[in-house]
Amino acid sequence: QTIKAFRKDLLTWYDQEGRAYLPWRVDHNPYRILVSELMLQQTRVDTVITYFNRFMKELPTVQDLAEAPEEKVLKLWEGLGYYSRAKNLHKAAKVVAFDLKGEWPESYDDLLALPGVGPYTAAAIASIAFEQVVPAIDGNFFRVFSRLLKIDDDIAKPKTRKVFYNAVEPIVDPERPGDFNQAIMDLGTSYMKTVDPDTLHSPVRKYNAAYRDGVEDQYPVKTKK
Ligand code: ADE
Repeated sequence: QTIKAFRKDLLTWYDQEGRAYLPWRVDHNPYRILVSELMLQQTRVDTVITYFNRFMKELPTVQDLAEAPEEKVLKLWEGLGYYSRAKNLHKAAKVVAFDLKGEWPESYDDLLALPGVGPYTAAAIASIAFEQVVPAIDGNFFRVFSRLLKIDDDIAKPKTRKVFYNAVEPIVDPERPGDFNQAIMDLGTSYMKTVDPDTLHSPVRKYNAAYRDGVEDQYPVKTKK
């Protein structure tokens, strides 16, 4: 019942104060989610907003992107860097529009097979666009849940991902998995930042084991490689 209360407190806060205005959150269109998640892989939210809106204006559907010449795609990406993301995005659009005839893969495993889509991105798309109950694990997520649950595993180790996955999968809200993941992202950039966290006012402070014990600064555990 703590889990239910946690979900409720988290999502109530998200509904009131989450970044609902982000342009890729206005609907659950998988194409928009894919483009935004690839842009967000290495670029800050503030920068992505402008690029995302321009990209959607020029290439509003997955079919449009699949049919676009590569120069056009790269041009729209200019300034974001890491151009392999743009090339992979283009390839992924071709897979969906041509090979799959516009039928989107909906499961985590099938999404993971798309070019440019790694574990985090597959989970983000599966949960946000298709309401699949999977935790989307990135640096923010490690920080938030290592503190809430006092998970001591070293986040620099690849196998730690599974530890977090197993710990958090039962906590993800089965009715709103995409919003749950995005609420964690918002929490990680507001009340549970790396530097200067404002945990005192966090909407989920009472569930935060590291805060309770005064050891927040010790989480997440990360060794240098
Ligand atoms: N970073 C990665 N995915 C994101 C999303 N959907 N919203 C905000 N920040 C993100």
